[in-house]
Amino acid sequence: MTHEERQSRRLLVTGGAGFIGSNFTRYWCDRYPEDRVVVLDALTYAGNLSNLEGLADSGNFRFVRGNICDRPLLETLLAEENIDTVAHFAAESHVDRSILGPDAFIQTNVVGTFTLLEAFRNHLANRSEVDRCRFLHVSTDEVYGSLDPDDPPFCETTPYAPNSPYSASKAGSDHLARAYYHTYQVPTVITNCSNNYGPYHFPEKLIPLMCLNILLGKPLPVYGDGQNVRDWLYVIDHCCALDAVIHRGTLGETYNIGGNNEVKNIDLVRTLCRLMDEMAADLPVKPSETLITFVKDRPGHDRRYAIDSTKLQTSLGWEPSVTVEEGLRKTVQWYLNNEAWWKPLLSEEYQSYYAQMYG
Ligand code: NAD
Ligand code: DAU
Repeated sequence: MTHEERQSRRLLVTGGAGFIGSNFTRYWCDRYPEDRVVVLDALTYAGNLSNLEGLADSGNFRFVRGNICDRPLLETLLAEENIDTVAHFAAESHVDRSILGPDAFIQTNVVGTFTLLEAFRNHLANRSEVDRCRFLHVSTDEVYGSLDPDDPPFCETTPYAPNSPYSASKAGSDHLARAYYHTYQVPTVITNCSNNYGPYHFPEKLIPLMCLNILLGKPLPVYGDGQNVRDWLYVIDHCCALDAVIHRGTLGETYNIGGNNEVKNIDLVRTLCRLMDEMAADLPVKPSETLITFVKDRPGHDRRYAIDSTKLQTSLGWEPSVTVEEGLRKTVQWYLNNEAWWKPLLSEEYQSYYAQMYG
């Protein structure tokens, strides 16, 4: 389909001021300037308006501060913007915070997703043209639980076995998205993706936390023995996959998205140290590997994630394009260039979270 043949869309992007949501919003506005893009975000600690800087100038973009649990707000927005496509990113997303306090995870991830599905169902009941409408539910590989070293990667039929309050709440929201297709024909498509990294990543997560701690000369806290494995995907590759699923995905289906990049945490941290030592003009502690500190493990820490994305690759022609080495280099360079973005995030709230987590 060429750009000329393509019918424009009107998107509601929930959680569009967060890490992946803002990368997706930038990607979409750049690629499809003819589309209307409305971001709805509650601006929790993880939401950041500066992630969307520059977009306000485009006539087709609107930001609304609000909560996905607010049904009247959702109904008003869906109707007044005549939304045909929901890209649902809004969530509480950090496993460690879900262990410290699971309440917000149940509220946003389960109740919020339910509220959004209900509002969209009601919205579609009042529309005549529903064929091209979509509800993209963005989810995680963590719903499948943990793999042993020799297990095959997760595929779309792997049984759900979430191990943290975060992954359990995401699993609940996936089940709701699935049920709304089967029961009410709400046009849902679900994606389950592996660990993302790249620009605008909040520094509570492994990669940005390590980058900033290296820059600040602080200890690099590696949980347990550092042998846990994650499958890393550059965030723009994730956005391309979501683009394919929105345009060509089959309704009611699930698509796994992964980077084919399984890396042990300790190896990843060592790579970040090497890149920082090479690329940063000046570091308080060098070699930065000397900052690596093994700390108490995360409770219920999943040992290994790996994703089989054959279905997405064969049916929709997507594949990851950025290698880990290349993606990490770009990411390190981004944090080096964007101190003005990350410095304000090291707020009092962040320091108190950090102290609670790492002592
Ligand atoms: P994030 O924490 O960076 O961003 C979440 C955004 O949602 C923030 O802007 C926040 O303000 C907003 N939000 C939170 N609660 C809200 C509410 N009740 N109403 C409206 N907005 C609210 O998360 P992320 O890493 O960008 O993840 C986005 C989505 O992708 C999540 O659903 C997550 O489960 C999923 N996912 C993340 C990864 C990853 O590696 N980060 C991988 C796979 C899937
Ligand atoms: O797999 C997809 C998931 O990836 C997403 O659904 C989540 O939203 C996202 O946060 C991420 O979850 P993880 O728990 O895998 O990511 P995190 O960056 O928190 O941790 C990555 C690995 O690094 C994990 O094994 C725990 C470890 N870790 C993490 C931190 C923050 C450390 O060793 N030290 C740390 O300080």
